[in-house]
Amino acid sequence: MKNKKIFVVGNWKLNPTSLLKAKELFNGVRKEVAKISEVTTVVIPPYLYIPEFSRFIKPEGIKLGAQDIFYEEVGPFTGEVSATVLSDFSVKYVIVGHSERRALGEIDEQVNRKVKAALKKRMTPIVCVGEKERDSDGAFFAIIEEQIKALTEGLERKDLAKIIIAYEPIWAIGTGKTATTSDVQEMQIFIFSILTKLFDRKTAEKIPLLYGGSVKAGNAKILHEEGGMNGFLVGGASLKAKEFVKIINATLNN
Ligand code: PGA
Repeated sequence: MKNKKIFVVGNWKLNPTSLLKAKELFNGVRKEVAKISEVTTVVIPPYLYIPEFSRFIKPEGIKLGAQDIFYEEVGPFTGEVSATVLSDFSVKYVIVGHSERRALGEIDEQVNRKVKAALKKRMTPIVCVGEKERDSDGAFFAIIEEQIKALTEGLERKDLAKIIIAYEPIWAIGTGKTATTSDVQEMQIFIFSILTKLFDRKTAEKIPLLYGGSVKAGNAKILHEEGGMNGFLVGGASLKAKEFVKIINATLNN
């Protein structure tokens, strides 16, 4: 998968707790990233920080994302934010189907609708898949296959080239337990084969696959070199500018 573009995505979740701290973090990353053109870096803050950061988004350099969207564009949906609203704020990426949203009740069908809503507004959905636990019989592969089938349901081949899939085993998120490089590589091959079966090889080759789950500055290099994915979705370690930039640097071929 080394011929594809590399993405390093920082999912800040519900952090930090003030605009001042958010600005410090954003600027710390933005300045460093300006020197790195080989990797697409996406920062995904809580919604309310987006308008402030969108002023700094240019065609080159750091990109901005959202942690979720609603699948309807407009109407009586209290508390929801749509792709239409976000697209006015330079938001080009959106996480869809994160396990923390799924844990709050989001189901596969909603994930699929959100993917379609993002594509309609020319946003790249970063769609998360992952198993709760690993069993020795490998039943978790069927879970991933189901999630991929559901998220791609009704999409055309041309749409597939515009999505990113992030493999995030739930047992590795925020736990400090990272998947091994062979777990990651095996899953990269598995997801590629599912996409090839559902569509075709050429289409599957266009879809960047990311790994997420306790990625840190200390394990990023080996995970990148041996895992065979196209970058990372980073949670906790994206909250320190220096550590996040180290992860970005770990994906550079040097
Ligand atoms: P983590 O989170 O890096 O803190 O494990 C990853 C994620 O939830 O996207």
